[in-house]
Amino acid sequence: MKIAVLGAAGGIGQALSLLLKTQLPAGSELNLYDVAPVVPGVAVDLSHIPTDVKVLGFGKDDLAACLSGCDIVLIPAGVPRKPGMDRSDLFNINAGIVRNLVDAIADNCPEACTCIITNPVNTTVAIAAEALKAKGVYNKNKLFGVTTLDVIRSETFVGNLKGLNPENVHVPVIGGHSGTTILPLLSQVNGVDFTDEEVASLTTRIQNAGTEVVEAKAGGGSATLSMGQAAARFCLSLVDAMRGENVVEYTYVETNSDDAAFFAHPVRLGKNGVEEILSYGELSEFEENAKNAMLDGLRSDIAMGVAFVKG
Ligand code: NAD
Ligand code: LMR
Repeated sequence: MKIAVLGAAGGIGQALSLLLKTQLPAGSELNLYDVAPVVPGVAVDLSHIPTDVKVLGFGKDDLAACLSGCDIVLIPAGVPRKPGMDRSDLFNINAGIVRNLVDAIADNCPEACTCIITNPVNTTVAIAAEALKAKGVYNKNKLFGVTTLDVIRSETFVGNLKGLNPENVHVPVIGGHSGTTILPLLSQVNGVDFTDEEVASLTTRIQNAGTEVVEAKAGGGSATLSMGQAAARFCLSLVDAMRGENVVEYTYVETNSDDAAFFAHPVRLGKNGVEEILSYGELSEFEENAKNAMLDGLRSDIAMGVAFVKG
């Protein structure tokens, strides 16, 4: 298994690369790319950890070499939020970064599974899809928006509220990855009852959890460590699935549903990426209303990504 992290010298990139160096199956290769000159040093640093995962660093002119032969590419490259900003405020800088990196994926490893972390995810995944289409290599089963952070946050917050070990709590989260487009399905959490007030306040907290971190970091960026963990979990699930295990993760993918062109669903992963997009099941009245209220916003985030590439 050969995996590339693009933006590997950043806050997420370094945390993610550390987790992958220690948790990827023996014999894997981890290629780290960044425009920041420190990236070869990050690779040398990680290479001293005694696991059977080979780490190589690639500087800004070596993107093609980094991507050649990769099975999975993770993209956390781009700028993070500062207090007072929405994720959509990152579009102007990050749209072009994602477009260029995905163009290089199309040219060098068109069969790879591409996992987009860069915000605004609602839009950057649509940009990636259009960029791959423009190169004639789009496979909707191999493009993912990583929304796992919303899932792990939900598990943590529910576990803390109900006095449960968060590792045993499973919370479906559907929709997109910003504000009200993030929709936790608390009605589907097994064995846990919530009051209406708890549902309302937990839903709001999960939707604003990114802002909670941005404000706490006070200008120093957004979530990096929890995101590194979330992306590692998603990547390792994909690796397991590509090695034949039956794995389901919630992730933002192209769907054929009436909700929106891209929507986070439970997805059965397999050797070729998406094996099956599963139903998110029955929603409570609160969840149905919340879903209907956010769909227009999500659709226009997606349209912005399509327009960015189509011009
Ligand atoms: P960061 O500034 O710490 O790191 C970003 C890295 O990207 C830097 O090392 C930078 O040199 C690199 N970079 C910039 N342009 C590049 C290019 N063209 N090619 C390769 N590398 C490039 O930022 P961060 O905290 O790691 O966040 C990165 C992105 O992830 C942001 O857009 C942030 O909003 C997003 N994010 C997404 C989620 C999610 O749930 N999907 C969670 C947290 C953060
Ligand atoms: C998050 O959810 O933490 C990320 O999307 C980063 C952000 O800007 O909130």
